[in-house]
Amino acid sequence: MAHKSKTFKIITYGCQMNERDSEMMSDMLEAVGYEHAQNIEEADVIIFDTCCVREKAENKVYGKLGQIEKLKSANPNLIIIVAGCMVQQLGAAQKLRERAPYVDIILGPQNLSELPHLIQKVLEKRETHIYVEEHGKLNEEKLPKRKARGAQAFVNIIYGCNNFCTYCIVPYVRGRERSRQPEHILNEIKDLVEKGVIEVTLLGQNVNSYGKDLEQKVNFAELLKKVNEIEGLKRIRYTTSHPRDFTPELVETISGLDKVCEHVHLPVQAGSNRILELMNRGYTREHYLELVASLYEHIPGISITTDMIVGFPGETEEDFLLTLDLVKKVQYDNAFTFMYSPRKGTKAATLPDQIPLEEKKARLKALMELQNEISLAKNEAMVDQEVEVLVEGPSKNNPNNLSGRTRTNKLVIFEGDKELTGKLVPVKITRAQTWQLRGEICRA
Ligand code: SAH
Ligand code: SF4
Ligand code: F3S
Repeated sequence: MAHKSKTFKIITYGCQMNERDSEMMSDMLEAVGYEHAQNIEEADVIIFDTCCVREKAENKVYGKLGQIEKLKSANPNLIIIVAGCMVQQLGAAQKLRERAPYVDIILGPQNLSELPHLIQKVLEKRETHIYVEEHGKLNEEKLPKRKARGAQAFVNIIYGCNNFCTYCIVPYVRGRERSRQPEHILNEIKDLVEKGVIEVTLLGQNVNSYGKDLEQKVNFAELLKKVNEIEGLKRIRYTTSHPRDFTPELVETISGLDKVCEHVHLPVQAGSNRILELMNRGYTREHYLELVASLYEHIPGISITTDMIVGFPGETEEDFLLTLDLVKKVQYDNAFTFMYSPRKGTKAATLPDQIPLEEKKARLKALMELQNEISLAKNEAMVDQEVEVLVEGPSKNNPNNLSGRTRTNKLVIFEGDKELTGKLVPVKITRAQTWQLRGEICRA
């Protein structure tokens, strides 16, 4: 009888760090003989790679886990794993055991490399394993060589975060900053380029902190210079930038490096100095606006995106108006806007004057309306321009069209052969919408 391989399915929530973690888990499982399952019903192993940055993210996971329980009753050999940030919160693993006792493995983000070993243990002896050590042994350099997945790749440069913004759970679940050795990063990118990658996104909660913890002193600007030298690589992106640590040296470096894309994700969070201070962000609105002015001046055509939180404890109408005012001044290309969500264990969750939900909703709506107007106007200004697009494949919403991104990270939809996937093509913008552009391929 033909041997049937075991299969797995990973469901990923949260940010790019989690996407990259999921890829690592996928590579680890493939290295021990597992294959991707076509759909979740057929999988022998189901992994949830979770997020807990806001309460909503956690609720989604519990909702989905409830559905999976049925699969487990139908197939007792199914292995269910909950990994990711959610389980690393204080007391979360215990809570999960109580609410979802059918989960076999609970695995924190700093302990990913334990995955194959823990699955083996469950197979040998069906009992639950919890592995959420805070200073885990994840060592990316010791994992099986990574697979390339198309023309784009995420590359970790620094793990964890030291900033402790008062609303944020990330430092608690991802631990302190740990930079990867520059040669490991460069070798990984060179290897990816050999496998067909032309665009990399360098990842860190705060890429501007890169290198501070390394013995051999190298900073983010120096790393970018080295990555820029890699032959065959066409585009370099990086996220996330912290406005406090974005130095003039870095602005200058970026403006001089041809592969570094004209886009920066620069989360501002709020426009009022009082709120920024309560958030422990370490910069003022004046500093931020100066930085933005310098970016616009030195990097022509740069697009700037951001994250913003409305309804932080104590945020008055006046504070909020300062956020709206800042948005008008900066003219963001796009913004991710969130209602403040109290996270247990963070400082802000204990602050007085929590803002009522209705108020948060009203502020979010006003902010989104303003930003949508600006996004549309900025996109309209691109009509008739010719831009370079990296084709990502058939468009999700119109599979007969292709979609891809400009160097400024704007989504463009256009007609073309799907053979162009992974290629850079010149596209003329024909129509603008709030969230995307329409275009046609320029014929030579
Ligand atoms: N390291 C990045 C991103 C962290 S999480 C940074 O420093 O910006 C992504 C975004 O989620 C944050 O930028 C913030 O806007 C939002 N966020 C984080 N904690 C939140 C909370 N408790 N409630 C609402 N939004 C939050
Ligand atoms: Fe969270 Fe602030 Fe760190 Fe970003 S910089 S991960 S918002 S603590
Ligand atoms: Fe990312 Fe969510 Fe963790 S935003 S770092 S997956 S809490």
